[in-house]
Parts: sequence; structure tokens; C-alpha cells
Amino acid sequence: MAEKISINQSADYVGQTVTLGAWILNKRSSGKIAFLQLRDGTGFMQAVVVKEDIGEELFKTAKGITQETSLYITGVIKEDERSDFGYEMEVTDLEIIHEAVDYPITPKAHGTDFLMDHRHLWLRSKRQHAVMKIRNEIIRATYEFFNKEGFTKIDPPILTGSAPEGTSELFHTKYFEEDAFLSQSGQLYMEAAAMAHGKVFSFGPTFRAEKSKTRRHLIEFWMIEPEMAFYEHADSLKVQEEYVSYIVQSVLENCKLDLKLLGRDTEKLEKVKAPFPRITYTEAIKMLKEMDFDDIEWGDDFGAPHETAIANHFDLPVFIINYPTKIKPFYMEPNEEEEGTVKCADLIAPEGYGEIIGGSERINDLALLEERLKEHDLDPAAYSYYTDLRKYGSVPHSGFGLGLERTVAWISGVEHVRETSPFPRLLNRLYP
Ligand code: 4AD
Ligand code: MG
Repeated sequence: MAEKISINQSADYVGQTVTLGAWILNKRSSGKIAFLQLRDGTGFMQAVVVKEDIGEELFKTAKGITQETSLYITGVIKEDERSDFGYEMEVTDLEIIHEAVDYPITPKAHGTDFLMDHRHLWLRSKRQHAVMKIRNEIIRATYEFFNKEGFTKIDPPILTGSAPEGTSELFHTKYFEEDAFLSQSGQLYMEAAAMAHGKVFSFGPTFRAEKSKTRRHLIEFWMIEPEMAFYEHADSLKVQEEYVSYIVQSVLENCKLDLKLLGRDTEKLEKVKAPFPRITYTEAIKMLKEMDFDDIEWGDDFGAPHETAIANHFDLPVFIINYPTKIKPFYMEPNEEEEGTVKCADLIAPEGYGEIIGGSERINDLALLEERLKEHDLDPAAYSYYTDLRKYGSVPHSGFGLGLERTVAWISGVEHVRETSPFPRLLNRLYP
């Protein structure tokens, strides 16, 4: 065995003999030469095995090698312009680690259910690999952005006793003798954290027992939740558009091959730079009426077709601001400029990917907050930590939550959020 490297280090080893630990993605061969498509997690590479150079015995092994067999493969790294990764290997030796027999996901097309049942293996495919690399880049750029902007990362609890986004979609569990719920949002805790640290963000799993079977809904998804003390809603919108621009530009910069592999139209992403357009909910209703949507009235929440119709008017993500109070959660600050509305916004991604951010200014007046809790039939005792924040140095503050999987779907250009979570939890799917 020569020096062990990974495929993404090839540039530094051109002309040298090295060993790769790899799996076989695919293979072509003739009587004298075999082409092995390798993957090692860091990249993809073609290995060329020539019978004359390697000898009868090893050539036979190479020719018979099966998909997903693992091996150590040794050879000389060459530049190769035809390869996306730019390099290939001229093989001098190979050693099978484990022979894979009858790998279920063959290069032919498979149905979605079959692929979802084999998600643990499907993750190895080039396409799924590219989506996870983009997800990783968005996470990396998120930490970079918020650290650069002076935010502190705070981790809210996952087991909770209260419900920020309404009680109908809660996962219920026992907490010894007490009732507990899986967190739907860390927001209320992040508000407490903002009063201690000024600007904070969280990144963690959230759970919604939503009986929705759509391309945008997961039961378990990851959310990034920034919260900022002394920020009015307009200040928060600025952070949102700068943050979203930052992650899109980071993916364009650092995931070129992944986007290419997915066939993503990157021209559309290039345009995603702050500022983003803003329209009010009331204007959005008017736009929908003009587009002959008869199924919606002022006061109704938007469905996917409405959001898509509005988004199609813009090249950029669009903020819909100031929704009616009665269709939003209890904690949103009233908008005195338009009665019956609150200071909030949903950010709607282009190309039909729907809402990727929900955010608002939070009520900072104790009496009003207590009134809203009552209106929403919420037990004040369960929220006393939250009302406390309005008793001791209450300040205007705003925040938002960005859904990671929907954002990955949009930036990657994949149709359904099930491909943007490594092991998606969906209605009727808890396996693998
Ligand atoms: O709009 P939501 O419900 O807002 C909140 O939870 C606020 N407490 C956030 C905050 O202000 N700190 O959810 C925020 C985002 C949505 O815009 C969407 O991107 C994502 O979370 N989301 C989902 N993603 C996948 N599957 C689901 N079932 C989702 N529900 C919400
Ligand atoms: Mg929302």
C-alpha cells in the first residue's frame, strides 16, 4: 500500500503513486482494459486498469468487481480533463476489502418508495451526495454568517412544557409524571436568551405532528432561529435578506460541482442578493384576486398554490408582511398601521418552493401579552418564564425561523424535501 489519500486531495498528488479506500459505483470493461468508477465520500474518480500492466490475476479481479464492493486501490494520479473532478488513476494494485453482492440500487431507475425504503443506501448515490454537501454548506455558512455578525449560539431545549406555534401539532410524551412535548420551535427560549446576550441564534431539530403529505412538509425538520434585542421588525427583515443571500452565494461559490451534478439553473441563484421585495398580505390578496383566485378571502391563510402564484411574480424571494392577527401565533406585535394585522413576515422562495422563513416582532408589553395568552386559551402558569421577560427590562425585539430542509430543496433545485434530510421523518415513514 502506498500513502493513503482521499479523492479530494488528488491535486496535490499528480504523478505520484497513492492508495485510495473506495467503493465501486460502476464499471465498464473489455478484454484488455477496465474502467472502475470510484467514490470515497470526498469525491468521484475513474480508475483505469490495464491487463498488460497489472497482470492476468488482478485484471480478472477488477473485471469481476461488483457495485458497492469496497477496496484499497493503488496507482498513479493523472490529470484528466474529461472528468468533472479533473483526475483519474492508473491502477497498479488493488485489494478487495469486502465484496458487495446484489446491491439493491442498480444504475437503472427505481421508484420513490423503493428508494425511501433503502434511504440508508440511497445516500451513497451521486445525487443524494450532492444534496447533502449543499445542506452541509448551508449549515457551515449559517454559523459563519451569525458569528461574523456578532450573534451567540444558544441551544434551546427539545423537551418542553409549552407550545409556541399552537397546540394542535404537538408530539406528546411523558416526562416522568408530567406531560411534555417535543419542541416545535425554540423561539420563546431564544427570546429569553436575547435578553441575556442581545443577538442569539439556535440551530436544532423541531417536530410538528402535521398530517400534511406535501413536497414541503417534514415531521422532523431543522430550524435556524435568530432573535435580536432592540430590533424592530424592519431591522429583522434586513438580517433575513442578508442571511439568505449569504447562504445562496456561499453555495454558489463552494458547491459548484454539486449544483452541476443536480442540473441546477444557477443563473436564478446568482440574482439572489439583498434587498428582497416586500408586499403586504393585503396586497397579496389583491394580486391573487387579479389572478382569478376565487378560493381566498382577506383573513384566510395562504396555501401552496397561492404562495407559488405570488412568488412567480418575482425573481427573488419575496417577503409577505403584516398578516392578519387571527391567523398568526399569540406572541406577535400588533401593526398599528393596519388594523387587525401584526408585524410579521413570511419569506417565500422563488420557483414554487414556498415559505422558507417565518418571523415577527414580538409583543413586549406585559398586559397585551397576558391578554393574548388568554385569547389563545394558553395556561399562564406554563408561560410565566415568558411573561417574566416583559417584567424586567422589556425591550422591542424580533426574530425569525428558517427551515433548513425547504431552503436546501430550493437552493439544490430538488422537488421534494424528503431528499434534503438524511433520514426524513414523513407522515407514514419512520424507517429507516
Ligand atoms: O413559520 P414557522 O412555524 O415559524 C416558527 O416556528 C417561529 N417560531 C420561528 C421564529 O420566529 N423563531 O416555521 C418556520 C419555518 C418555516 O418558514 C418553514 O421553512 C419551516 O420552518 N417549517 C417546516 N419545514 C419542513 N416541514 C415542516 N412541517 C415545517 N414547518 C415549518
Ligand atoms: Mg410559518
